[in-house]
This record gives sequence, C-alpha cells and structure tokens, in this order.
Amino acid sequence: MSITASKDHWNSSSDYHSRREGDAKGQVETILIPQFKQLFGRALPLLKAKSVSVADFACGGGAIACEFLKASRGCGVDVASFGLLDVAADNLPIAESRARSVEHSASIWTKKTNGVDFSDFDGEPVDFLYCWDAMVHFDILDVVGYIRTLSRVCKGYAMLHHSNYPVVTKDIRDNPHWRNFMSADIFRQICISSGHKVVSQKLHNWGIENLDCITVIEVSK
Ligand SMILES: C[S@@+](CC[C@H](N)C(=O)[O-])C[C@H]1O[C@@H](n2cnc3c(N)ncnc32)[C@H](O)[C@@H]1O
Repeated sequence: MSITASKDHWNSSSDYHSRREGDAKGQVETILIPQFKQLFGRALPLLKAKSVSVADFACGGGAIACEFLKASRGCGVDVASFGLLDVAADNLPIAESRARSVEHSASIWTKKTNGVDFSDFDGEPVDFLYCWDAMVHFDILDVVGYIRTLSRVCKGYAMLHHSNYPVVTKDIRDNPHWRNFMSADIFRQICISSGHKVVSQKLHNWGIENLDCITVIEVSK
C-alpha cells in the first residue's frame, strides 16, 4: 500500500494547478533557469552543440513548463525540444496546449509515466530533466525506481526538487506541505548507488526552513 497521495490526486480536476500559478514565474526565474544556464551555458560551446532538449517531469498543468519556456528564450541556451511527463494522463493535453501557446521554437512532446520508474520510456533521452514541486510527495520506493532508471529519459543533467523531511511517514497528509519521507543524504545515497554523480545539493525553504532540497546530478548511462 502506497503512503503517497493517490497517483491521480493532482490530475486536471485538482485546484492545485490554478493555485500555484502565482509562484511559478519566480521559482523558474530564480532557481531553475539560473541552474540551467550554469550547466549548459559554458558546456554547449565546448560540445559544439547549438541547442538542448529539456523535459519537465511531473509537469501537472504546465505552469512551470510555460514559465521555463518563456524564461529560456533570452537565457542564451536554445531549447530545441521540450517534453512533458506526468503520471496523470489528463494533465498532459492541458500542459501541452499551454506550452504550445508560449511563443517558442521548441518542439513539444508528452509522455505518460507509469508512476514508479522510467523503464517503459521509449523516446530519445533529453539533455536536461527537471522535476519541481512533485517528487517532494513521492514514496521513497518510487523515487528509487525513477532514479535507477533515469538514464532511459535523461542523458545529461537532472535537477530534482525533493523532500528533506526524514520523519517516518504512514500518510503524507499528516506531514507539512504533504512532504514524503526523504532526506538530502538519503537522496544523495540513492543517486550514488544508482551510479550517478551528484553535482550539487542545496537545502530549500518551503514555508518551513530547509523542508526541501534541490539535487543536481550528472546522469550515468
Ligand atoms: C503538486 S503537483 C506539481 C505539478 C508541477 N510540477 C507544478 O509545479 O506545477 C505534483 C505532480 O506530480 C504528479 N505525480 C504524482 N505522483 C507521481 C508519480 N508517482 N510519478 C509521476 N508523476 C507523479 C502529479 O500528477 C502532479 O502533476
């Protein structure tokens, strides 16, 4: 029995997606885009690459994806393709249509995930995958499944926003901001044990000091 919220809790009928609109722009502009630029701004000329592929894992209604596409326009790193992944199938057409409404040259694709790992992902792995305000709620077994199979979907860097609330959990609704059991160290160990290189970890406040952590990893093949 999973201790996380049901896999369709944040489907298209959830009022969460409209409530989070106000914060999305600031989170993208101050956290996601600076990290994206830091990772790819210098690497691209060295690799003689002109553009990168990006995916938003657990995209929900697409609020973060839209802001990412908008903010990436002037950031100096060209996004050639942009993927939207989520376990709730009915989120995907909504997120896709919103992403397409942003003036941008990236090709947009979607993929429903199975809720536990990337083993059935059959697309081209992306250069940069981010997961924002979603993995914080995942059960540790699903986190392990996704991290162990990350190379199926990402061949470069992943930026993962996760919980830093290592309190034994039977029901995430009992926890602050519905964080699931996880810590920065446990997450780091899952990444290392899965063969990935941990580039950085930064504790992050979410209503409560250091409730979360943002881990950047170089994905191993
Ligand atoms: C709190 S919403 C955040 C959505 C989006 N990242 C944002 O910030 O607006 C959590 C998202 O995670 C998705 N999700 C929940 N459990 C999942 C799982 N096991 N695998 C993949 N996605 C999941 C939900 O469908 C939902 O879209």
